[in-house]
Amino acid sequence: MRALILGRGNMGRAIRDALEARGDQVVAVLPRPGRAERPSPETLAPIDVTFEFSHAASVLENVRFALDSGCRRMVLGTTGWADDRRNVADAVEAAGATLVDAPTYSLGAVLFGELAEAAAKLFGRFETYDPYVLEWHRRAKADRPSGTANAIAKRILPYLRTKTRARLAEGEGAPEPDTLEIVSLRAGASPGMHVVGFDAPGESIELRITARDRSAYVAGALLASDWLREDRPHPVGIYPFESVVRAVLAGDGGPATANVPPAARVETQGGVVQ
Ligand SMILES: NC(=O)c1ccc[n+]([C@@H]2O[C@H](COP(=O)([O-])OP(=O)(O)OC[C@H]3O[C@@H](n4cnc5c(N)ncnc54)[C@H](OP(=O)(O)O)[C@@H]3O)[C@@H](O)[C@H]2O)c1
Repeated sequence: MRALILGRGNMGRAIRDALEARGDQVVAVLPRPGRAERPSPETLAPIDVTFEFSHAASVLENVRFALDSGCRRMVLGTTGWADDRRNVADAVEAAGATLVDAPTYSLGAVLFGELAEAAAKLFGRFETYDPYVLEWHRRAKADRPSGTANAIAKRILPYLRTKTRARLAEGEGAPEPDTLEIVSLRAGASPGMHVVGFDAPGESIELRITARDRSAYVAGALLASDWLREDRPHPVGIYPFESVVRAVLAGDGGPATANVPPAARVETQGGVVQ
């Protein structure tokens, strides 16, 4: 495969190393738009897959750059570009391209979400099991709870018979019985740990995922690129990584379907999130 990498930061370099280690050809690893080192896109063709891991401010320009090179398959990992989503989708659809997008390409995190939902469907039926979500990240992390903790809470809440809402644990005293508590620990250098637990008087059950380093994201990004390159053409548009994982699990290679979690109310610092 001939790959183009847009963004030469930590992720761009790690993806380059992983691609080269398995024998793929990395045509270029490019810095942000406007930098002198950027060649014109046509000179890079043909490109089988573009990996976009840069900065929200560069996503739209990078997607257009990849399309101008003739590339029609993209793995996009940059976070925080929601404001440009409509323009990116229009560009992708107009060009007849397929793009996989995810705030995390951790396969473990996606499968963990499936496990958490399955556990909620079982334990959530019984009032004796009191559920909770716990996460631990480095002290300097900007947000709390983490986006992943919010997503997990949203996903399991519909299956928890005794809970009507989820919120960040804060203040004094016991939480309301109908509240799913999300506990956020901020200390040290942890790259990310999430727990979904169910506590009953006589026993406790926990699912836990602990991130170690960015190699998990790199592996998932490569999985997405392999899915994009399957013989069967994938539909035009933007697909979440979850749908790629589901297609792989189903064994049919696709087409992927949008992953739409059940609606639920999650409260965080400063109010309701979604
Ligand atoms: N989806 C996932 O699994 C996943 C995993 C990890 C990270 N991420 C996301 O991927 C993105 C890149 O992460 P990273 O760890 O590689 O970041 P990083 O080490 O800070 O590198 C950022 C790269 O983006 C480029 N860039 C483009 N426009 C920029 C701008 N306006 N301001 C600053 N930098 C700009 C930088 O270009 P120059 O080389 O020209 O400075 C640099 O190459 C981030 O959005 C991060 O949140 C996603």
